Amino acid sequence: MPVGAQWGGALFVARRPKAEGVHEGRHPGRRAVPSPPPVLTEPGWPATLCYFAKVAPHRAQVRVPVVKSESGMSEQSTSAKPTDMRVRVQGEPRDSYPERAPEAERGRVRRITVVGEDVLHRRNAEVASELFGTDELSRLIDDMFCTMYVAEGVGLAGNQVGVDLRLFVYDCPDDDGVRHVGHVITPVLDERDPETTPLVVENEGCLSVPGPHAELPRAEHATVRGFDKDGAPLVISGTGYFARCLQHETDHTYGRLYIDRLAARPRKRVLKQMNEMREEVFARRAANAAALTGEAGAE
Ligand code: NI
Repeated sequence: MPVGAQWGGALFVARRPKAEGVHEGRHPGRRAVPSPPPVLTEPGWPATLCYFAKVAPHRAQVRVPVVKSESGMSEQSTSAKPTDMRVRVQGEPRDSYPERAPEAERGRVRRITVVGEDVLHRRNAEVASELFGTDELSRLIDDMFCTMYVAEGVGLAGNQVGVDLRLFVYDCPDDDGVRHVGHVITPVLDERDPETTPLVVENEGCLSVPGPHAELPRAEHATVRGFDKDGAPLVISGTGYFARCLQHETDHTYGRLYIDRLAARPRKRVLKQMNEMREEVFARRAANAAALTGEAGAE
């Protein structure tokens, strides 16, 4: 099982070890994939994690961008501008932000659904316009943040707390170490342009498939369009790990888990490992819930 950071500490990713010969591009240890593998060619699904995983401590460090040389030939830099490391909340930079989204302080822990439960495997309902701006929707988002943190995730979709509505929450770093926090109602992914957006293979897991991980190609950049809880239009873009999160979570809202994008053999391996690991994961979540919420506990 992936070893997590201390509860309350930084987010971190379960990454596969670096391997010789796969250091390409600006993300050491990741393989750029020139063309989509068969698993992503199925029509009808937006390319898209309750991305659960966590980011290795070194990835949370400030990355010093490589400045272009006078000849402008640097391959590792697209800009001489330093990375703006401010936390993005609903896509907007904030000069300061708490370690956990304030929503979580108001929320309660809900049970996380597990692969096999119907609500995870069908397209969820659109959020009705009447629900925007209501306490009901706000409370759901509060609970989703709280539940996500207790499970040490970086994203969580509505159907993962058993709610048949298309929305997700996230608190996820990108590959520059910039933290992104927010929620998206009715998320729709922009279609990937293979000419400009390569696929990247990295480890991925899911709070609803507790325990294991598997390598999966995802678009390096992603943009999701949707609404905030008050019905205002939202456009959230991300790169690297955060892009993976946006794709994974949007997939959830359409009833698709990451294991549905795996070939038969790795899918079988993941499900076998889940059965071996799930009780340990549940125990860890219960301990986190007890530590976080005290007597309130999980429902
Ligand atoms: Ni997930």
